[in-house]
Amino acid sequence: MKIALFNSKPYDESFFLRENERFGHELSFFEPQLNEDTVRLAEGFPGVCVFVNDPVDASVLEKLAAGGARLIALRCSGFNNVDLQAAAAKRITVVRVPAYSPHAVAEHAVALLLAMNRKTHRAYNRVREGNFALDGLLGFDLYGKTVGVIGTGRIGAIFARIMKGFGCELLAHDKYPSQACREEGVVYVEKDELLQRSDIVSLHCPLTVETRHIIDANALSLMRQGVTLINTSRGGLVDTIAVIKGLKSGKIGYLGLDVYEEEEELFFKDLSDEVIQDDIFARLLTFPNVLITGHQAYFTGTALSNIAQTTLQNVADFENTGQCENAVTL
Ligand code: NAI
Repeated sequence: MKIALFNSKPYDESFFLRENERFGHELSFFEPQLNEDTVRLAEGFPGVCVFVNDPVDASVLEKLAAGGARLIALRCSGFNNVDLQAAAAKRITVVRVPAYSPHAVAEHAVALLLAMNRKTHRAYNRVREGNFALDGLLGFDLYGKTVGVIGTGRIGAIFARIMKGFGCELLAHDKYPSQACREEGVVYVEKDELLQRSDIVSLHCPLTVETRHIIDANALSLMRQGVTLINTSRGGLVDTIAVIKGLKSGKIGYLGLDVYEEEEELFFKDLSDEVIQDDIFARLLTFPNVLITGHQAYFTGTALSNIAQTTLQNVADFENTGQCENAVTL
């Protein structure tokens, strides 16, 4: 199938070209994001491949349909950026990559936690400058701490297992508790109880109407003083303004983010020569106890290979049968 890949980076191109040797699709790589201004590039392509922050809204879908698109292939697992109702109305099938490496994301959440706690990023700079003083680098033992996991699907379950290995007590909240997690010693509780009892809270649920701002001022009021909060899921789960207040008051002791509510304007680009216009994000960067990465939790060779492979298989399935087991339905 002819596929237009938007928001394409050199690493996407290299992994997709390698995996496509088995599939033989006709791939065209476009650097810009798919949006109102760039949608015309997709004219004549039945397949359109997008990433997490391409806004595939009703208006873009209308133009895609007019240009002959029949398939949106998300090369990610989240699909909150696609208007599924509008896609269905235009008879455009939406497929995704449900799991490419849940380990990569869970391990990155742990990396954020360890780096913040032991201040590895600060120690690295100090030692390079010949400063071997330890003041300001005091951490805490993870052993014995209570970790609350919100969402114990593929990624959350792995994160819980890793933290169990550190000797932590595991609490979880999920609409659909996992028996496997229970058997590994995870205790399911209501969200409020999890927030009240956890020293560390890590978010692993999807962004939905229900979970938007699941961490807001009210949730923060329930949390322990000095709590560590990790979000590698979706920025919209956290009310950033409330979190900034929580950081200023000391309620939040450490904040580790791989995602940000307004990341679309920032992430996946080199803006090092520009002035950051987002004042809320800029404020977050000023806290010594905040560590932010730019949506890189998924970014391992294993994950990129799996993403390319599943995306190209999704397209082949759709092309050959009109169906795909990874279709996203309303
Ligand atoms: P999953 O679908 O396997 O698990 C999500 C879990 O959240 C499910 O168990 C579900 O029952 C639960 N859940 C849904 N609504 C809930 C609610 N209201 N309260 C509590 N739990 C709820 O998804 P997976 O693969 O574990 O991914 C989790 C999230 O991680 C994705 O939605 C995506 O947003 C994010 N992600 C981030 C990446 C990154 O690079 N930073 C890469 C891949 C995924």
